[in-house]
Amino acid sequence: MKRIVLLGAPGAGKGTQAAKISAEYKLPHISTGDIFRKNIKEGTPIGLKAKGYIDKGALVPDEVTIEIVRARLRETDCKNGWLLDGFPRTAAQAEALSKITAVDFVIDIDIALSKLMARLTGRRGCSACGEIYHISSHAGDACAKCGGTLIQRADATEATVSKRLETYTAQTLPLIEYYRNAGLLRSVDGDRKVDEVFGAIVEVIGR
Ligand code: AP5
Ligand code: ZN
Repeated sequence: MKRIVLLGAPGAGKGTQAAKISAEYKLPHISTGDIFRKNIKEGTPIGLKAKGYIDKGALVPDEVTIEIVRARLRETDCKNGWLLDGFPRTAAQAEALSKITAVDFVIDIDIALSKLMARLTGRRGCSACGEIYHISSHAGDACAKCGGTLIQRADATEATVSKRLETYTAQTLPLIEYYRNAGLLRSVDGDRKVDEVFGAIVEVIGR
């Protein structure tokens, strides 16, 4: 079974790699960040609650986030495997996940934090299909896949990115040790071309 957790700092390339992994292995891609942004756009109670935290670069409270993931993993498309992107992000979330399900692979996309400011402030996403771009390799504001408009996320300002990196160091980085101790951790060097990172991930997951 392929039940995969993607770890990595903001901007390490979790979303970029998750799209490729999900297509390659036909796994549902579960991004808690995407779920929150969808709820914010639709103005749901979860969205209203999450927005204040996300705009500050803080984490949404564990109890909200854990229940979302618990419910999502129960859906039928998850019965043969799944890919979690951006969850768990705290020790409490990791503990909760271990009680919900076993995990087959924890893949940490490893990159120096000093590289991430440029990645995150230059990130653009397609408002129609979700494809992720960077201004250094894609000019203009049209999606190459679907023609949709590219937008910058609300949490991509320098001030919020700094806060997100601090939050990562304080709350999520310790999970690397947690999963290493559990014998599940596999690290891939994230400071390479997208396809090279993906190649290393495929080597970890296997066929
Ligand atoms: P979330 O949406 O998960 O954002 P994040 O972890 O901050 O990460 P990003 O999506 O910004 O980056 P990424 O690692 O996916 O990199 P990407 O592929 O985009 O979370 C947002 C917020 O929601 C959180 O701050 C929190 O408030 C809340 N939240 C979410 N989950 C939560 C949880 N579990 N608990 C509590 N709160 C939660 O790539 C970045 C850029 O780099 C792109 O421009 C891309 O084109 C480029 N790039 C990617 N790979 C490469 C490469 N190999 N070489 C060069 N450029 C590359
Ligand atoms: Zn698009």
